[in-house]
Amino acid sequence: MSKTLHEQNIEKADRYIAAKKLLVKQGEMRQKYHFMAEAGWINDPNGLIFFGEKYHLFYQYNPYDSYWGAMHWGHAVSDDMIHWEYLPIALAPSEYYDNHKEGGCFSGSAIEYDGKLYLLYTGTAKDENGFIQTQCAAYSSDGIHFKKYEHNPVITAPDGYDPANFRDPKVWRHGEYFYLICGAGKDNLAQVLIYRSVNLLEWEYLNVLAESRGEWGYMWECPDIYPLGDRHVLMFSPMGVHERTVVYMVGDLNYKTGKFNYTVTGEIDWGFDFYAPQSFLDNKGRRILIGWANAWDWMPWWKDWGPTFKEGWCGSFALPREVRMCEDHTLQFIPVEELKSLRKHEMEVIDVKAGETLYEIPLSNGNVYEMELLIDLDQSDAESFTLILRSDGEKKTVIEVDLKHQMMYFDRNLSDGWSTGRTKSPLKMEDKHQLAIHIFADQSSIEVFTDHYKTNHSCNVFAGKNQKRNYIAGKNGSIYVKRLSTWELS
Ligand code: FRU
Repeated sequence: MSKTLHEQNIEKADRYIAAKKLLVKQGEMRQKYHFMAEAGWINDPNGLIFFGEKYHLFYQYNPYDSYWGAMHWGHAVSDDMIHWEYLPIALAPSEYYDNHKEGGCFSGSAIEYDGKLYLLYTGTAKDENGFIQTQCAAYSSDGIHFKKYEHNPVITAPDGYDPANFRDPKVWRHGEYFYLICGAGKDNLAQVLIYRSVNLLEWEYLNVLAESRGEWGYMWECPDIYPLGDRHVLMFSPMGVHERTVVYMVGDLNYKTGKFNYTVTGEIDWGFDFYAPQSFLDNKGRRILIGWANAWDWMPWWKDWGPTFKEGWCGSFALPREVRMCEDHTLQFIPVEELKSLRKHEMEVIDVKAGETLYEIPLSNGNVYEMELLIDLDQSDAESFTLILRSDGEKKTVIEVDLKHQMMYFDRNLSDGWSTGRTKSPLKMEDKHQLAIHIFADQSSIEVFTDHYKTNHSCNVFAGKNQKRNYIAGKNGSIYVKRLSTWELS
């Protein structure tokens, strides 16, 4: 039987990757323990699911270039969310509804039904009036080879909605129905629409699940909703609200009306490089999310996508994080415990008093590491303190914790001769006696977690191999570090 265009396009892309990957693997800026593609460009994580005893990760993928281009879905599987095995490309542009060179198979999600793995994704095409986005289905019996549904698209934008802003379906099951939400734009304001179905192919429109009245921008990318504790969490990546790019809302979902009402909002990560996270429920009952570690050109701080294009690749994913809800319904985002299996050469110091003179943090590998600090606030009188990371004396990344004004900053203006900008966020400091900070540094990124994993900053930092000194210092007083532990990660 002759091959379909979809099969041909997948094979062509897989051949291209096979020819490139050995060279790309040698890149000096490649991450050591974060997920990346073998070659080419990636953005959003898609279709996260625990299926057939494995974690499956799909991703927005342009295998042909280190820049965004016609979107494919890459695919990888893992037993622990840390070590990934690459599989053939799952989706490639091939049909009238998903084959434009500035479009393709955009973000979406996965679900198991009837022994098959279904993918719901956005097909992006273009005509003389502009882009047309529709929701489409594909399915697979072996979890590797996917066939696009012959009657795609399965959902088109309702009348009055902008067809160029109608994307990123997230699907789940509740009771006898499947439900799907996707981002939509109407009158230049963001909405999330909710649909339901009994077979994943025929969908009935239910309602506007939630919407922006201007305060939350003109489009919500990659919306996701899930139960947590006795409530529901809605997350999305809003466009048009400056530095708020990964928002969560905690509220209640009414399945009969399809309406979500929220009482709490927060930011998943204040860093420059954390976007479009997607969540899934794993086989241990954990709600896990993975985000893309980069930014779009429409974001206020954007300069470029970093220097890794020179090595034939661009983009990695931030560490998988478990979502937990606190009593006050704010959320914690905790790096998954599987990461502990990477720890080597632990070093620990206790009771360190750091004043204006830099205290050098002991590390067996000052480039790629994990660090946990516990600050005793009762015994510290500094107004603020800084963590100077991955420094060679001149270049450095500076994390500033301003205790006096309850603020936190991640400054990468001197990080690597390439990156710019300084993130900023309020610091909750709900615990008045102690402040714990947890840091993961990889070859091209630094993720900082604090405030019980409620205030997090993730940024890409392309520091060279010689930038491996790390320090802490107090400002206008001293800082009392009760315990400081570091590990090399490999
Ligand atoms: C988010 C996003 C999605 C879209 C995809 C395209 O980063 O813009 O809305 O589906 O990327 O690659």
